[in-house]
Amino acid sequence: MSGPNTDYDPVEVAAVSPAEVEAARDAALAAIAAAADLEQLKAVRTQHAGDRSPLALANREIGALPPQARKEAGQRVGQARGAVSQALAKRQAELEAEHEARILVEESVDVTLPTDRDPVGARHPLTTGAELIADIFVAMGWEVAEGPVIEAEWLNFDALNLGPDHPARTMQDTFWTEPADNHIVLRTHTSPVQARTMLTRTPPIYVVCPGRVFRTDEYDATHSPMFHQVEGLAIDEGISMAHLKGTLDHFATSMFGEGITTRFRPSFFPFTEPSAEVDLICFVCRGSGLDDDRSGACRTCRGEGWIEWGGCGIVNPRVLQACGVDSSRYSGFAFGMGIDRTLMFRHGLEDLRALFEGDVRFTTAFGSEL
Ligand code: DAH
Repeated sequence: MSGPNTDYDPVEVAAVSPAEVEAARDAALAAIAAAADLEQLKAVRTQHAGDRSPLALANREIGALPPQARKEAGQRVGQARGAVSQALAKRQAELEAEHEARILVEESVDVTLPTDRDPVGARHPLTTGAELIADIFVAMGWEVAEGPVIEAEWLNFDALNLGPDHPARTMQDTFWTEPADNHIVLRTHTSPVQARTMLTRTPPIYVVCPGRVFRTDEYDATHSPMFHQVEGLAIDEGISMAHLKGTLDHFATSMFGEGITTRFRPSFFPFTEPSAEVDLICFVCRGSGLDDDRSGACRTCRGEGWIEWGGCGIVNPRVLQACGVDSSRYSGFAFGMGIDRTLMFRHGLEDLRALFEGDVRFTTAFGSEL
């Protein structure tokens, strides 16, 4: 520890002389102003404001001065150091701003320039698949209808004759939103678009509704909590099951090729009466149930010759009434199938997850490159 400097040395005092302090400050300010970039400013900082800079040394001398000289010298050196550090901060900010502005110009990328990167990108098979389905119906004069994925419980269930006690309304299947008393769900099927369409249009109505739906399913090779359906609805005078069968046969043939038609199996849906499950002739074995060399069972339909495709039926008059359609004048048919499932058949996919994982190598394999 150094005590007061009793052997006062006049040579040391000279370092704190006004002229010296002023000269050191001016030299520092000139060097700061001359620093052309942040690198140079860093060197200037060390030289003029660092521990061994003239002003820092002068500051250290103050303690060695006789008490009466300390105050004045302290003020002088303090002011000089203050001016230098202010100038440093100001120049630092200026140079940083310049640096940033330069980077913005130098490193800007023209995103409009053409690129030869391969692959450029691809439309997702679910998008092209849904478009293909819509096109088949648009070609018959149908329209495409859409509805929200966050849907009113009433439209998702009640309007479709799915009473409050129907098992599909239990927590296992449905994603409910909070707070529960808002009665809003993530739609569990595309059928609410039927109800929305009937409520807003007058018959005749011919619409297809492709879209995303949600159920509280585990994610595995054949299930996903989010998947896609396409709904069809025809409301007109004199609509019968025969129209439904003809329409679905045409849909199947357009999707899977000549000779691939459908069969109906009796079933139940609250929104249709009568209702049926639709099966598709297996397009791999073409209904034989046999594999390629005819020695074992076809892997696609597991020897059945048929593949489950979806549900359908004649729209229940209670649904027509709930949605404001005159059920004494009009009747209608409806159907719904999984788009993902349809694409899995069409492209021989074994794992549903391939459709959701966004791997471009998978997407381009569908030949859908832009
Ligand atoms: N909404 C049904 C489901 O998700 C599918 C369905 C069946 C839709 C029959 C229909 C229909 O329009 O008539 O399981």
